[in-house]
Amino acid sequence: MQTGVMAKRSGGDGGKLWGGRFTEATDAAVERFTESASFDSRLWRCDIRGSIAHARMLAKIGVLTAAEEALIAAGLAAIAVDIEAGRFRWKREFEDVHMNVEAELTRRIGEAGKKLHTGRSRNDQVATDLRLYTREAIDELLGLCAALDDVLLTLAEREADTVMPGFTHLQIAQPVSAGHHLLAWREMLARDAGRLRDARKRVNVLPLGSAALAGTVYPLDRKFVARELGFDAVSENSLDAVSDRDFAIEFAAACALLMTHLSRWSEELILWASPMFGFVRLPDRFCTGSSIMPQKKNPDVPELVRGKTGRVIGDLNALLVLMKAQPLAYNRDNQEDKPPLFDAHDTVRACLEVFAAMLPAVEFDAAACRAAAARGFSTATDLADYLVGKGMAFRDAHHAVGAAVAHAAARGCGLVELPLDDLRCFAACIDEGVYARITPEASLAARNTYGGTAPRQVRAAIRRARRAPKERAPADR
Ligand code: ARG
Repeated sequence: MQTGVMAKRSGGDGGKLWGGRFTEATDAAVERFTESASFDSRLWRCDIRGSIAHARMLAKIGVLTAAEEALIAAGLAAIAVDIEAGRFRWKREFEDVHMNVEAELTRRIGEAGKKLHTGRSRNDQVATDLRLYTREAIDELLGLCAALDDVLLTLAEREADTVMPGFTHLQIAQPVSAGHHLLAWREMLARDAGRLRDARKRVNVLPLGSAALAGTVYPLDRKFVARELGFDAVSENSLDAVSDRDFAIEFAAACALLMTHLSRWSEELILWASPMFGFVRLPDRFCTGSSIMPQKKNPDVPELVRGKTGRVIGDLNALLVLMKAQPLAYNRDNQEDKPPLFDAHDTVRACLEVFAAMLPAVEFDAAACRAAAARGFSTATDLADYLVGKGMAFRDAHHAVGAAVAHAAARGCGLVELPLDDLRCFAACIDEGVYARITPEASLAARNTYGGTAPRQVRAAIRRARRAPKERAPADR
């Protein structure tokens, strides 16, 4: 089809920033299908920051005059004010955040606006925006992890002497301190924060200057831009830099694992709050009722956290599958990276916040916890250890106590309720002193190894955790 200069001049391209080689306007359905402004407008702050740094650098190397740079910087700042105030009109025909901002800049300041994109492509621009976004997301989540860590340590200290059953296979195993259990959660969270902090290193690398895929003809000062934007390094390979989304995947992976942990805590809270366990009371303000059953008080908050874990695992999966089999370099597939990245961030933020608010209000029912800890022959191991103290080999002691447990079970009582004569049938060396050794409290106190559940160890662990530097964003250090 032969369409001449006239057709182009008369705006057959629909006024696109890239419209020069097009002779007809984009199909309306294609415009709707390909646009991303409806979701990537969220990147506007990062986009404008990146553009201001790019313009400053272009002026420094003489590609822009100081006057042009000043116009651009002021124009972008004014656009930022309007976006912030909700006065900016995002246009689908400008496709994405980058072209919306650039088109508006040129509308406002004229010729200088058209020079902003010199030596840059949306491919390195979007990668830069997304890294700035992810870095901020990490810093925010690290702050929330640190706050939740404080909450857990306070709670663990409060419950250090609360005796509850520890489970394996969800069967009563040995008594533990409730504070110790909370510190187990805390360890998971500390690793999550460490993973976010570690991912940050690989996030904080500047792709700008890679242009579309091959670099650019202008003598860009990439290190200057990196300094302006707080990046620790510049990317080494332009092809990789415009196509790499590992950083988003790593972030989502850290988020998915963090959510997996919150989901485990949620599951435990839900069980503990059930009358079948009755270990904790969740405050009314964190529960909801049933529209039909008047007696119900449901643990919807931990249930929703457990449920939202599926979304974040889905976000990670979406990003992995998005990248799988993509050839170098940039492909439009990558536009799809934003919804899962934003969703993982929003979901984790909301869950960390709600947990930090809810946990201090969780009340342990110490009597119910202790009663449960005394059930299920939970101190059978302590009886075996007592026999070892009397000189028996552990394997023989294990066997003898197993027989005593079977006997007590047949009588429908616990080990402490067996008369001394009965106990002595299983091991003649047992004396009166045994009873003080097989209470839940004695069992706890005896587990005094580093990292063990003895309240002394729990308090020592809390002191160590408080002394250890928290994983935080570098600026707060
Ligand atoms: N909206 C696009 C994205 O999010 C920006 C990059 C577009 N680049 C291109 N060559 N079409 O990935």
